[in-house]
Amino acid sequence: MKRDCDEEYLRSAKKIRFAGRVFYIFDYVYEPAEDTFLIAKHLKVDGFILDVGTGCGILSVLAASKAKHIVAVDINPYAARCAKINAEVNGVSDKIDIFIGDLFNPIHENLTFDTILFNAPYLPDEKRKESKSLIEYAWSGGKDGREVIDRFIQQAPKYLKPYGRILLVQSSLSDVEKTIREFRKRRLQARIIDEEKIFFETISLIEALNLRKF
Ligand SMILES: C[S@@+](CC[C@H](N)C(=O)[O-])C[C@H]1O[C@@H](n2cnc3c(N)ncnc32)[C@H](O)[C@@H]1O
Repeated sequence: MKRDCDEEYLRSAKKIRFAGRVFYIFDYVYEPAEDTFLIAKHLKVDGFILDVGTGCGILSVLAASKAKHIVAVDINPYAARCAKINAEVNGVSDKIDIFIGDLFNPIHENLTFDTILFNAPYLPDEKRKESKSLIEYAWSGGKDGREVIDRFIQQAPKYLKPYGRILLVQSSLSDVEKTIREFRKRRLQARIIDEEKIFFETISLIEALNLRKF
């Protein structure tokens, strides 16, 4: 019954191809774009990976060939389901565990990772709302664009192994310099490693390294 339901879903879902793989994009799920491809370009990752805000699961699937294991999280249940299907379709579901939740909430507090990925919702959103719609979760960073980014920076270091690294994508519209300062305050070595100009903004890929042994 579930399998029939999944097949029905796949027939109606949008399909994209990237790096020789196929990805289904369900309704209410972020379709990979320039920010996704910017982080994908720098995905030389091995070890244990945490993919925060996995969306359709594209970064987890791409990382799966080299990674030991991947944990993927998304607050949007449609995204978590889409990522699960894409992991299956690409033959890597044995390497990826997918959870629905807010940032690090589903992660056991003693778990640490070699790499933490986050293509964050980073656009300033002037409208004050009680709650976000599912697709708004993909892009809306609240009033100054930093609502989710700031919470991520506060929590992420605890889940990073010694010598581990964070790859975070955000826009010039949500104060990239503040992100670098906030990582440095937490004793991570942070810098922009790649950028792309699109329309009215520049998208930056920020790397934050944990150079401490313990
Ligand atoms: C810009 S999309 C990136 C999706 C995918 N990683 C990619 O690169 O194509 C941001 C994703 O983060 C998820 N997200 C937003 N806020 C979140 C939160 N607080 N906790 C977990 N996931 C969140 C959204 O639902 C969305 O899937």
